[in-house]
Amino acid sequence: MGSSLLSTFQLGDIELRNRMIMAPMTRNRAGEGEAPTDLNAMYYRQRAGAGLIITEASQVAPEGIGYPATPGIHSPEQVMGWQKITRAVHEEGGRIFIQLWFCGRISHPSLLPDNATPVAPSAIRPAGQAFTTSGMQDFVTPRALTIAEINSIVDQYRHAAHMASEAGFDGVEVHAANGYLIDQFLRDGSNQRDDEYGGSVENRMRFLNQVLDAVLEVWPSQRVGIRLTPENSFNDMSDSNPTDHFLYFIAQLNNRNLAYLHMLEGDMGGADRALDYRVFRDAFNGPYIANNGYTQESGEQSLANGDADLIAYGIPYLANPDLVERFRSGAGLNEPNFDRLYGGGPDGYTDYPTLG
Ligand code: PHB
Repeated sequence: MGSSLLSTFQLGDIELRNRMIMAPMTRNRAGEGEAPTDLNAMYYRQRAGAGLIITEASQVAPEGIGYPATPGIHSPEQVMGWQKITRAVHEEGGRIFIQLWFCGRISHPSLLPDNATPVAPSAIRPAGQAFTTSGMQDFVTPRALTIAEINSIVDQYRHAAHMASEAGFDGVEVHAANGYLIDQFLRDGSNQRDDEYGGSVENRMRFLNQVLDAVLEVWPSQRVGIRLTPENSFNDMSDSNPTDHFLYFIAQLNNRNLAYLHMLEGDMGGADRALDYRVFRDAFNGPYIANNGYTQESGEQSLANGDADLIAYGIPYLANPDLVERFRSGAGLNEPNFDRLYGGGPDGYTDYPTLG
């Protein structure tokens, strides 16, 4: 029997060469104006063997940034930078979606235009610290968004969706996970609004629905994926009833004929799961991408069980540009250099050895 990870997959009108998705990973190596560089293009070109690359999270507006040197997808310079990346990946026969991001309360005034206070659904300060250009600093209490401001952020997503199209991407992933702005609305630990954006699941999903409406004005639904994290506590997130609440969100997403549902299962960086993800997978009416701590063996097992259609690998792709060939041949894997995860130059970024 051949390997399922290495078999093709029909994602809407796109045929993926294999089922090994490259997960989005923040690397903090954007250039001036938060525009992608030639070095970034080399990094993605090296990894184009993935069935689909999902880029590092990319802010849809200057106000959406939350870390130093993350790329944007809102200015002409950024579009020109991303064009180098999409061209490089397509030259290698690969496919690439960009992840659309707005950090919200996971930011810091020193990173924001005019030293603005970070924004969120509610003025609830997350425990923990922000990565800033002058080291780690405590998160501040965010300012609750007005309804007019929520609507203008939706416009920023629409603009970014247009920019992603100009940049030559095959599609976009709406980042509704990991404690960033959309997730801050979805989960009730961070959303305590008493207007039409808070309280019921319907209200907490309103912002995401508006964002999807805007993005779907630009992109066909089969070129739009979504990432969710019912359980991830990263960025001080919590929810009082994740299974029921996310089953509601998924039922609503089923009306939209999206390209895929991409789940970071469990808590970021670990293999443990408190929730039963088969329930979410079965509730969604399209392809399901499982992510978080998968090995070749557990990925194959998950596909064989029907627990997922596609497996997203993060750290393994970071350290192994030719991960597909390594799985095919049974070769060992390079170890990631975690000291070079965030920021810096080519070392620990584009200098991981390939086979042969
Ligand atoms: C991070 O920078 O650590 C990070 C960014 C985006 C995510 C998760 C983690 O979705």
